Amino acid sequence: MAATLTAAMSVGSVSQAETVTLKFDQIDSTAVIMPEIYGQFAEHLGACIYGGLWVGPESPIPNTSGYRNDVLQALKDLKVPVMRWPGGCFADEYHWRDGIGPLKDRPTQVNNNWGGTVEDNSFGTHEFFNLCELLGCEPYLSGNVGSGTVQELAQWVEYITAADGPMARLREANGRKEPWKLKYLGVGNESWGCGGNFTPAYYADVYRRYQTYCRDFSGNRLYKIASGASDYDYKWTDVVMKGAGSKMNGISLHYYTVTGWRGSKGSATEFSPEDYYWTMGKCLEIEPVIEKHIAIMDKRDPKNRVGLMVDEWGTWWDVEPGTNPGHLYQQNTMRDAMVAALSLNVFQRHTSRVKMANIAQVANVLQSMVLTRGDQMVLTPTYYVFKQYIPHQGAVVVPLEVETETMDVRGDRKVDLLQATASRKDGKTAVSLTNVSIDRDMDVELPLGDFKVKTVEGSIITAPTIDSYNDFGKAETVTLKPFKGARIGKGKVTLKLPAKSIVTLIME
Ligand code: AHR
Repeated sequence: MAATLTAAMSVGSVSQAETVTLKFDQIDSTAVIMPEIYGQFAEHLGACIYGGLWVGPESPIPNTSGYRNDVLQALKDLKVPVMRWPGGCFADEYHWRDGIGPLKDRPTQVNNNWGGTVEDNSFGTHEFFNLCELLGCEPYLSGNVGSGTVQELAQWVEYITAADGPMARLREANGRKEPWKLKYLGVGNESWGCGGNFTPAYYADVYRRYQTYCRDFSGNRLYKIASGASDYDYKWTDVVMKGAGSKMNGISLHYYTVTGWRGSKGSATEFSPEDYYWTMGKCLEIEPVIEKHIAIMDKRDPKNRVGLMVDEWGTWWDVEPGTNPGHLYQQNTMRDAMVAALSLNVFQRHTSRVKMANIAQVANVLQSMVLTRGDQMVLTPTYYVFKQYIPHQGAVVVPLEVETETMDVRGDRKVDLLQATASRKDGKTAVSLTNVSIDRDMDVELPLGDFKVKTVEGSIITAPTIDSYNDFGKAETVTLKPFKGARIGKGKVTLKLPAKSIVTLIME
């Protein structure tokens, strides 16, 4: 722990309590938080698939048909709603026929994007779809547009979803008679870059062509997602929506909390308070970015038919020292947990367009849920945020207003030190509160108006220091614990929100 992180930042002092006013009278029952915004992303990258999710049935690591048991259970506990696969950049060099049939006949390939590692294709279509069945989540297939063909993608959809015909017979010969369900189909990934370096106008035409032949078989209905923009590329969204908006159900957006694309991205575990507050500002900038993309979508799709799918997001730091730079393996601290909470809050504020989000990646890569080493597994601080936020999945947004102190941070951004989101489901109200300050506890009040609360319970994620993380072979430093600090008063709930903490209250 760097001593400097305990030093107070000069943020001034606030005497009265910060407030979060819940607007129960303004609930819009259509503002449902899609469970899919808690989506995951499994890419053939580093040890995400091999070693992370999959060890193979012959492994000494305890497994169920090849899926490691510890990770499987951890993901079941997270109620993962959707999993994107097989990339990322890997998707546009993936040829699905290489990953079906007897293992000994599967060809190998070089994973050109990610360290030149040899991919043996032992985890393919059956292994992915069976995993989704085990987890009870929707599969989200990322189709190869960059180096594949229309026929290849069309037949993949047929192989997965058709009840009869040549592709169904091939699937049956490979051991699976019943078709799987496939809802989410991505037509390319980052088609402006690793997915083919297309111009937006050209991609829009290519998208139109590909989606024509991706058909609904045997009662399956595809939700087709166009490859969208990165960050601030509003032109991409505009041109693709204009050219192909009527032929899609969704368009993606990628936004990483990253210092830049050249040179060092900074250490995942060693950073200054200033770096930490910069990270909060950068991660919150996803909100104006989303709003600008939505404004374009509103213009091109005024009936709000097309969803915005943030199908890659999260922190991106330097790889852990001594690891393969092409494998993007990074640790995950309390700072990453804060990024997760703040980003999820943003998605929950934009439910009318944001229909899915997939944090990158589920295991052993960027802002992962789990890290594995041999037969050991670590649950990251980010994992615990996803767990703590489960009550928001599928709930209706409760609008709220926050009064708090604002801090100027590096990069010419402003950060509100108290961040909040709230939702309601089955008669329960879930309120998640984040105290971004490293060193100042907050007195928080939640005025309730006429709304009556009989019980309040809660959970908290915090850590000794903002750079705390969970490590192999050590007791967990950052975890989810019960929070007993909330009190029901006259027309309000009050609590002391510790510095650098995330609390979720469940009020009934
Ligand atoms: O998440 C790592 C990579 O970031 C993905 O493969 C790609 O889509 C993006 O550039």
